[in-house]
Amino acid sequence: MSKLMSSLFLVLLLVLSMTAFSAQAAPVEQVGSEKIIQLTYYAIGIRYGPNATTVPVAGINGKVWASNTFGTIFVNDLLLTEGPSAYSPKVGQVRGLSAVSKDGSANYISSSVTFTNREYNGSTLQRQGTIFNSLSRQPSVLSIVGGTGKFEGARGSVFLQPYNNSIIRNIFKFAVFK
Ligand SMILES: *[C@@H]1O[C@H](CO)[C@@H](O)[C@H](O)[C@H]1NC(C)=O
Ligand SMILES: *[C@@H]1O[C@H](CO)[C@@H](O)[C@H](O)[C@H]1NC(C)=O
Ligand SMILES: *[C@@H]1O[C@H](CO)[C@@H](O)[C@H](O)[C@H]1NC(C)=O
Repeated sequence: MSKLMSSLFLVLLLVLSMTAFSAQAAPVEQVGSEKIIQLTYYAIGIRYGPNATTVPVAGINGKVWASNTFGTIFVNDLLLTEGPSAYSPKVGQVRGLSAVSKDGSANYISSSVTFTNREYNGSTLQRQGTIFNSLSRQPSVLSIVGGTGKFEGARGSVFLQPYNNSIIRNIFKFAVFK
């Protein structure tokens, strides 16, 4: 691990340990007329079978529609939970579309998070950006480009980190008007 990577990792650990104690305490900072909200949740994916959460629906004729084949488009619908387990309380649903890049290493993604937990029930966040097939190679960060309900006008980022092969940690950090 390079020096930069290990210091990044440390910062990340710090951030994660801070959020671990304040999972439900939303605003972490007040800046002028805005408040900064940070939330850490987990997206649970199922790759195969009748309950698969990411399914190829279109692709280039004559090519295998796979996650490393240019032009393949996937529909995603993942469960978002409080902790890293499918049995952890559900906080929402992540729904969207993704398209594989020419070199097969990345996916352009556009998705919407609909919250269903008591605190944010009915509020949504819209996100957009590029995620890398090998999440460990490069950090994947999506822009939060909007929201509704309690998150109206949200802007910020969501950091995606693999927890294991089927679970992705989502760290949302965004500003909304007070
Ligand atoms: C798919 O989901 C349904 C409803 O939650 C469940 O009853 C079923 O066991 C699941 N099937 C598999 C193969 O996991
Ligand atoms: C990922 O972690 C969860 C919770 O610890 C576990 O239930 C699941 O089986 C793991 N999945 C894989 C593919 O390792
Ligand atoms: C969220 O809102 C819906 C619709 O208003 C309601 O049916 C549901 O019980 C609410 N869920 C929670 C956890 O408050």
